[in-house]
Amino acid sequence: MRVGVYGKRVTVSANIIPANAESYKQAAECLAGGGIVALPTETVYGLAADAHDDDAVARVYAVKKRPDYNPLIAHVLRADDAHSLALISSLAQVLMDVFWPGSLTLVLPRKTECQVSLAAGAGLATIAVRCPDVPWAQPFRDAGLSGPLVMPSANLSGRISPTLASHVAADFGTDVDMIIDGGPCKGGVESTVIDLSGDYPTLLRPGPISFEEFVPFVSDLRLPKKTAKAIAPGMLKSHYAPRAGVRLNAMERKDGEAFLAFGVFDFDVEGQLSETRDLAEAARNLYLKLRELDQGGIDTIAVSPIPETGIGAAINDRLRRAAADRTE
Ligand code: TXA
Ligand code: MG
Repeated sequence: MRVGVYGKRVTVSANIIPANAESYKQAAECLAGGGIVALPTETVYGLAADAHDDDAVARVYAVKKRPDYNPLIAHVLRADDAHSLALISSLAQVLMDVFWPGSLTLVLPRKTECQVSLAAGAGLATIAVRCPDVPWAQPFRDAGLSGPLVMPSANLSGRISPTLASHVAADFGTDVDMIIDGGPCKGGVESTVIDLSGDYPTLLRPGPISFEEFVPFVSDLRLPKKTAKAIAPGMLKSHYAPRAGVRLNAMERKDGEAFLAFGVFDFDVEGQLSETRDLAEAARNLYLKLRELDQGGIDTIAVSPIPETGIGAAINDRLRRAAADRTE
């Protein structure tokens, strides 16, 4: 059944299954048989399919209503598996050694022998690869599933990413074959994306691993040119959007607004990202609170200012996109 409730406990959804050894085995079998399965990761929930299976990949695009020009990340179950997909430069290898498994996606030149479905690559000469830090990688391999898996965030295209199994159920219901419930995601925002395929390393999407953390390894890391064509549609201005409008850097609540705070204010607030102004806690709460406030039917969510440091850059990036003009 479809569950239309964001953020709240979902009463019935036949396909939400608690994460454990048995359900990981079932999920691996389902994926090997061409199924699509929502899985918890350390960032957000993803909607996984066997990356080699054209039909399963097509189902992921269809269920998400994702435009076919938006490529998917290939998730490897072991870092070394990236070598069969992409050309790994010495810099790429350093970043893999330091940050994998973890919340870093690398855009790399695609190898000609790469078997990932061409549809998942949206016709690009590059491929995005990530080795997530997840408890199901080894059980999947033990069950004979070697990957890679395509795994976009498990939300309707352009909407808020899921950090709870109930969020996935709210967007997809039983349109997906299984939803593995591993509890709340510990990161809360999607992986950092670095493009190593061009002349300079470029930070395409800020994420849990901040710009500052790369500096010791990538001295010439750049931000994308403001005028650059959006090659990663996650970079499209309007994305991660609730139904309500979003007003940024708010210090007070206007009529018809719900207030989402970062820190304590001298008025009652409808949502709190972190009372103690802890950015990691705010990242974990971001999508959850946006979903909760959105279902209240208010016109606008007013969000208080968030510092741009560390994971704050990723939070602000998502908020700016949530606030962007929807008509573009
Ligand atoms: O944390 C994450 O990365 C989550 C979890 C589930 O692993 N996945 C995720 O996937 O965020 P998705 O599809 O929602 O976002 C992937 C982003 C998109 O903005 C996409 O355009 C970009 O990565 N991307 C994928 N392949 C690319 C490529 N070859 N070049 C540039 N950008 C690419
Ligand atoms: Mg996404």
